[in-house]
Amino acid sequence: MRLTPCQAALAGAIGLNLLLLYCAWLRPGFGGGGGGGASPRCRPPREVPGVTVLLRDFEDFENDVAGTARSFAALPLPVLVAAETAPYPPVPLPPGARLLLLRPAPDRPPRDSRPELHVRTRHVAVVPDGTRAVPGLLERMRATLETGDARVVAAPVGTEPLRCLGLRVELREWTARYGPGGVSGGVCGAVEGAAVLLLRTRDLFNLSFPLARPLPTALFVQAAVRGWGLRVLREAFPAAPPALPASPHNRWKAESLAGARRRRLMRDLGIKLEVLADGGERWYGCTKDTARCFGTVHARTPQYLLAGRWTPPCCLRALRETARHVVEALEAAGVRYWLEGGSLLGAVRLRDIIPWDYDVDLGIYREDAGKCRWLREVEAAGGGAVEDAEGFVWEKAAEGEFYRVHYSRANRLHVDLWPFYPRAGVMTKDTWLGHPQDVEFPERFLRPRLPLPFAGFTAMAPNNAREFLELKFGPGAVEKPEYPNPAVKRLGQGD
Ligand SMILES: *[C@@H]1O[C@H](CO)[C@@H](O)[C@H](O)[C@H]1NC(C)=O
Repeated sequence: MRLTPCQAALAGAIGLNLLLLYCAWLRPGFGGGGGGGASPRCRPPREVPGVTVLLRDFEDFENDVAGTARSFAALPLPVLVAAETAPYPPVPLPPGARLLLLRPAPDRPPRDSRPELHVRTRHVAVVPDGTRAVPGLLERMRATLETGDARVVAAPVGTEPLRCLGLRVELREWTARYGPGGVSGGVCGAVEGAAVLLLRTRDLFNLSFPLARPLPTALFVQAAVRGWGLRVLREAFPAAPPALPASPHNRWKAESLAGARRRRLMRDLGIKLEVLADGGERWYGCTKDTARCFGTVHARTPQYLLAGRWTPPCCLRALRETARHVVEALEAAGVRYWLEGGSLLGAVRLRDIIPWDYDVDLGIYREDAGKCRWLREVEAAGGGAVEDAEGFVWEKAAEGEFYRVHYSRANRLHVDLWPFYPRAGVMTKDTWLGHPQDVEFPERFLRPRLPLPFAGFTAMAPNNAREFLELKFGPGAVEKPEYPNPAVKRLGQGD
């Protein structure tokens, strides 16, 4: 078929229109009007085949960024050095390598600090500082990525092989668990050891924290949340001699900075416990010296429940420790106590604190309270706080006639002690907070009290605990878990 000049012009115009439409569609904020003015110019989508080398994890005071960038830029490949602020002392970059400053500055357009606008290739390789290029290896990694089921491909740097780990991230429990990996078909959740990580640019910049440091850890955790697998190649990139950092002082500096970055990353990702492959644990968050990691609880629904999460593991641990401490003190003093409310429910259901509970409740015989030295001292102090030998703080609750034992002065996680007294065979008390389960009960449940495993120790509980719980919470209370205040948030609703 022959085209007349007129037809050709028409076809050209239609093509141009389509292209413009496509460009407008690609613009961030299109249709929403967001973006705050300086929208990036329309540019081709990331259809450029190839790999951009991304250098992100390095120290200002001692690095091999220049050498690493030179090695990859010579292949030749585009190299992007991403840092919050310009490295100081400055790093001389070879042609083909660019510095990208991630922290916005008032005199620079926003696009300057948006990394996703500066990577045009379809793939990106996250390269550790001190790596040397190997011709063809990034292409082999890309081929592995594009032909397999993995979303990330790793290759070792240096002579040590990578260790493949499994990784399970339970955001609801604020926990990342590493374990043995690579058993089924060699797909890992994470790798241990210095590695080049290759992935699709589109995948990297669709992460919530695409360039958080340390980048490999940030990547593994976010990949695990999305169910992405990681495949490991055997072939290695050489490491630059000498190994960095060189001096003991710089090593110490690098380690302390790495620790601080890791803590910040875990805080951003919402992870408070890492269980390592060897069974070791790394905790982030509440200790005796920090504030409780959730604020005042309103409507019996802590903030974390509304955010779709359960009690942070450090809080559960501190609650268990406080409960054990209080129970030991009460037993030593001969105070008759028993597991109450949600704590008894947890003991019967799973021998532990309910994973979304925020305190521990114990009932005590009011007439026994004076036997416990700390409760006596609280009364002598007019209800004020008394710190015991182990740093737990006992006091009268502001809300009424009951006691509260805090984990520490700073950390207000607590065990509540509810003084009950018998009246005509019924256990009653003087303060009622209006919770549905807060009701009187026949004293026969306490004659006798029976031991129950709870939170890693043994605590006393009412006999016929199930009947006791149904009296308080209603029929089926043991079998049907529910959040403390279903009117505000129900279990299984939105999480
Ligand atoms: C980006 O991630 C979301 C989930 O976080 C997913 O639904 C979406 O398809 C992804 N987009 C692309 C372009 O991969």
